[in-house]
Amino acid sequence: MIRLERVTKIYPGSAFPAVDSVSLEVAEGQICMLIGSSGCGKTTIMRMINRLTSITSGTIHIGDQNVMDMDPIQLRRQIGYVIQQIGLFPHMTVYDNIATVPKLLWWDKKRIAERVDELLDLVNLDPDTYRFRYPRELSGGQAQRVGVARAMAADPPVMLMDEPFGAIDPINREVLQEEFLRIQARLRKTIVFVTHDIDEAIKMGDKIALLDAGRLIQFGSPEELLTKPKNQFVKDFVGADRTLKRLNLLRVKHAMLRNPVHCLEEDPSEKVAEKMIEQDMSYLLVTDRQGRLKGYVNLYDLRGHKGTVGDVVRPLSLTVKPDTNLKDALSKMLSYDLGIVVAVDDAGRLQGFLNTRTLFSVVGESYDERGGHWGRITADGRIL
Ligand SMILES: Nc1ncnc2c1ncn2[C@@H]1O[C@H](COP(=O)(O)OP(=O)(O)OP(=O)(O)O)[C@@H](O)[C@H]1O
Ligand SMILES: [Mg+2]
Repeated sequence: MIRLERVTKIYPGSAFPAVDSVSLEVAEGQICMLIGSSGCGKTTIMRMINRLTSITSGTIHIGDQNVMDMDPIQLRRQIGYVIQQIGLFPHMTVYDNIATVPKLLWWDKKRIAERVDELLDLVNLDPDTYRFRYPRELSGGQAQRVGVARAMAADPPVMLMDEPFGAIDPINREVLQEEFLRIQARLRKTIVFVTHDIDEAIKMGDKIALLDAGRLIQFGSPEELLTKPKNQFVKDFVGADRTLKRLNLLRVKHAMLRNPVHCLEEDPSEKVAEKMIEQDMSYLLVTDRQGRLKGYVNLYDLRGHKGTVGDVVRPLSLTVKPDTNLKDALSKMLSYDLGIVVAVDDAGRLQGFLNTRTLFSVVGESYDERGGHWGRITADGRIL
């Protein structure tokens, strides 16, 4: 846990504080994203946490220890630090850069060599290609990745990462973000992570601290910043498309209507048609006895049809998984005539149903269980 209490930094000779009475807490194993425009005090906060910069007033605790009571060298060994301008030692190879802290900790050679290779793999750099290169022989993004590997080398419980993915192109950046979150799910480090990119903050953060001119403007979960921006500044910062951004945070399973009304393929068409008329539905989902989705029928096909629903069922080609993110589901929904997507599990069993109405119920505030041509979309299970 990292806790800042009314932390202020006034650089000597400066009229205004660079950091102005900032209080925030990062719980054990969580990622706190620091975001705000250039010069708002992000790097200064990081450097006060590991005591590279003195604190003018206020306190910083790591766990139950006040950083001011700790030996700065000891403190920094417990904290992995990825600095903003990469900061690799230019006269040392990639290997020696990553091995810096493990060497200080007197790890044996074999353990260090294994760790370096493991970390290079982790940041998507082939160990055999890059191990003995010098920083000048790396691209900016590659150097940043070595910087991340170096900060993680001794497996510190706390990491301070100052724009670690800043110089990396969008595609590799996304790969690294995914990879990083995957590792974090396992390692559960306590991380303060600086970014300029609101999308990165929303994607990576358990909490986001939005700063402006040294002040903490809003501190909360990505969800809170998107749904309850405190003021116009936050609104502008998260962007006018904050509703769409929220879709990225949510998954189909959060929005879908479970156990949607449906019939079985062996149900008699006429009976189903009667029920559909009664319930004001034009379309209906069809499954087999095992609950596997077979498709849908429309009322027009069923009326006057003497057989079973299975004879006239139409395939539903567009399905999603409950774990699909809502943005992808929406984009599929919009490209599909019926304006719905159906969620099925890996075995093809009907799990839920999503249309613009059910989407509104999570993204907007209103909930209406009437769903256009589909009529009443209720969680009634079978129609008969
Ligand atoms: N050593 C220093 N002496 C005096 N002022 C400083 C010093 N370091 C930073 N500042 C000032 O403190 C303020 C905050 O700087 P800081 O580096 O923390 O910003 P930042 O949020 O990290 O910005 P960026 O996004 O550009 O990295 C700035 O106005 C900066 O000019
Ligand atoms: Mg900075």
